[in-house]
Amino acid sequence: MHNTILITGGAGFIGSHVVRLFVKNYPHYQIINLDALTYAGNLENLKDVKDQPNYKFVKGDITDEPFIDELFATYKFDGVIHLAAESHVDRSIMDPLAFIKTNVMGTAVLLNASRKYWKDNYEGKLFYHVSTDEVYGSLGEEGFFTEQTAFDPRSPYSASKASSDHFVLAYYHTYHLPAIISNCSNNYGSNHFPEKLIPLAIHNIKNNKPVPVYGKGENVRDWLFVEDHARAIDTIFHKGRVGETYNIGGFNEWKNIDLINLLCMIMDKKLQRAPGTSAKLITFVKDRAGHDLRYAIDATKLNKELGWEPSLQFEEGLEKTVEWYLANEEWLEHVTSGAYQDYYSDQYQKR
Ligand code: NAD
Ligand code: TYD
Repeated sequence: MHNTILITGGAGFIGSHVVRLFVKNYPHYQIINLDALTYAGNLENLKDVKDQPNYKFVKGDITDEPFIDELFATYKFDGVIHLAAESHVDRSIMDPLAFIKTNVMGTAVLLNASRKYWKDNYEGKLFYHVSTDEVYGSLGEEGFFTEQTAFDPRSPYSASKASSDHFVLAYYHTYHLPAIISNCSNNYGSNHFPEKLIPLAIHNIKNNKPVPVYGKGENVRDWLFVEDHARAIDTIFHKGRVGETYNIGGFNEWKNIDLINLLCMIMDKKLQRAPGTSAKLITFVKDRAGHDLRYAIDATKLNKELGWEPSLQFEEGLEKTVEWYLANEEWLEHVTSGAYQDYYSDQYQKR
């Protein structure tokens, strides 16, 4: 079962952890990593597995229908784990159409190719769609997102992901395409592109630059270590029930300002700065438009049905993450040179 697997977006943050786990744990699988290498994709993330005999990288765009059709004809995939996406809310506010193209059209192209190439025999085939808790919208102070929570996306990013989730379920119901979806909370860990809160703050603290906190820093996110997300994907891919959705989360809610204060304390320790030095860099800036107040996942179904649970305490995971960034200056330099500078000044100069 699932011998040749297409992983899309495998050069990105979460995708690279998923590729590594599958290449290492399943030597009898052939893993094809398809990635367009946008600003967020980086083959340096996969240096350690690039020469493995069960791994191959293919550069290409999921929205390119003839190319995707040819890829399916060439490799005869048994499974797809779909992670390729435009993934940053702030960029979706700047350029929503790019999100509709990749996240909605790209997913539809992959679904259609899977349907065409698998339609005579769905046995042993699986389309696994990796999605986000942001499709559920924003919570107030109480409550959790469950798999029954109605979709209520509020940013162009979350609207495009919600749309792609709907298409996956439409293919399942209409064509009986064997499909599973998971909706995960905010991830953190190594290889995270420094446009997202945690790696951006680490990068700025290290360089004594202001740490921009949107609004009053009161928004709440539920943080999960990326390697725990990759383990959950492995579990669901192999043991999940077709047609189901699984929520994945860390049971780990943090107000942004509390998280940044904790990060500052860790950075002071690691950089041997006097306690309180890094926290002086915290700068409150103009809030994000339509900023969702709170995300919190109820991952009981995944725990009860498939036995998955997070492996790390947040403090431990955050410390590991800081250590990785401090030990991988070259990685950080490569991804923050060039186009990153333009993005950074567009996003933060006027705030
Ligand atoms: P990322 O931005 O780090 O990586 C996305 C990858 O997709 C990059 O390697 C990029 O080059 C590739 N890509 C983009 N457009 C493409 C296209 N048209 N064709 C082929 N490849 C393309 O994203 P991430 O944070 O690793 O997220 C991966 C997936 O997980 C996304 O679907 C995202 O919605 C979902 N997700 C992310 C989080 C999170 O906290 N980061 C949480 C829940 C779900
Ligand atoms: P982010 O990492 O962009 O993830 P998401 O928007 O998908 O949750 O942001 C996490 C939280 O941090 C979110 O509430 C927005 C906030 N934030 C800041 O306060 N400052 C920043 O510079 C960024 C990028 C995010």
